[in-house]
Amino acid sequence: MKFFKNLPILFLVMICFISFVSVNAESQKETVNIAILGYGTVGSGVKEIVDNNFERIEKSSGKQVKVKKIFVRGSHTELLNNSNVFTSDFEAILNDPEIKIIVESMGGLDPAYDYVKRSLENGKDVVTPNKELVATHGAELLKIAAYNNLSFRFEASVGGGIPIIEPMISSLNANNIKQICGILNGTTNFMLTKMINENLSFESVLKIAQELGYAESDPTADVEGLDARNKICILASIAYGKHIYPKNVHAEGITKISSEDVEHAKNLGYVIKLIGYAKKEENDKISTFVVPMLVSYSNPLSIVNDVFNAVLVDGDCTGAVLLYGKGAGKMPTASAVVSDVIGCINNSKALKKVYWEDSNNKDILNDFEDFEAPFYIRFQKDNTEEFLITEKMKVKDFNEYTQTFEKLGFRVFSKIMVLD
Ligand code: HSE
Repeated sequence: MKFFKNLPILFLVMICFISFVSVNAESQKETVNIAILGYGTVGSGVKEIVDNNFERIEKSSGKQVKVKKIFVRGSHTELLNNSNVFTSDFEAILNDPEIKIIVESMGGLDPAYDYVKRSLENGKDVVTPNKELVATHGAELLKIAAYNNLSFRFEASVGGGIPIIEPMISSLNANNIKQICGILNGTTNFMLTKMINENLSFESVLKIAQELGYAESDPTADVEGLDARNKICILASIAYGKHIYPKNVHAEGITKISSEDVEHAKNLGYVIKLIGYAKKEENDKISTFVVPMLVSYSNPLSIVNDVFNAVLVDGDCTGAVLLYGKGAGKMPTASAVVSDVIGCINNSKALKKVYWEDSNNKDILNDFEDFEAPFYIRFQKDNTEEFLITEKMKVKDFNEYTQTFEKLGFRVFSKIMVLD
């Protein structure tokens, strides 16, 4: 009888005990320490997201993510003197067993390649937005990561905040990819949009893009199409399973685009965009390049403006899939990096399996000169300026055609491929 009288009290005590145990377990969640290499636009964005979205990240990963160290070069005395999170000693990070994940956000190849390679060899997962690194050394670094059962993840290397690497590896992996066509550089798309819509000069728009943190430290990589080339190489390597090296891929930038061409293109029903392109041809080889193109208003890429990027992936089962979002900038890019950090923690197998083989590009790439497309040409004869769009023809035939034009006394101002 007495037992039943005390039952409510017993019940209450039990509830308190269960709550205590669960609160305690909650507060004792394992911490995952990460180190960020480089504290520029992306590196500082990663720190900000890890600090500000702490709870959300904990929910997604089941762990407490902490930035234990940030590597900066010795010249950053202000940072180094004010907080012991900052260090210029990479070896200390490498040899710290508590640091499980390295975020490499220094950019470039030196010392990024050496640091990333040694991090993977030392048992650390690596996340990077560094497209040059992935496009140049991806096959080797993926192999080292897979050998050591680690992740080497690079969602942020293409398209900034747009999920494109994971969808290509996971969601679209039942497809043979027929073609990839994308606006892959935020800086140049921002510049072209402003030049077209606001009639601003090339130099002034580039300056704004740099101030907004869109451009590379050397913006030549953006305006000459080299950044977009790294990105199309990464996408094509995933799609076709062989490493495609940037040095073997034709790239042109936007430096020769004039306001006259922009205006004529508009009158013809097109807009000029810098396009990264890759296609599996009937001979089973790949055509890939980066060039400015006239894009018809009926193509969804024609309405991708400002810093936005978009990638059209054409799978044999899905048909065209369009991925769209902000392609550059601190927070969108850092968002993709942090999601990769969570991916490493969740031990997702997806990027451990992604592996493209090293390749002799000669056997798998078509010559750019053999690619067929229509072309826009602007020329002058006897003080009369004209422009036209040709039939579809090979690049080399078009070049011969324009040389003949010049021999006949025509002055050729511009030649731009048309996206078919
Ligand atoms: N400079 C690059 C761009 C940054 O403008 O797209 C993002 O990769």
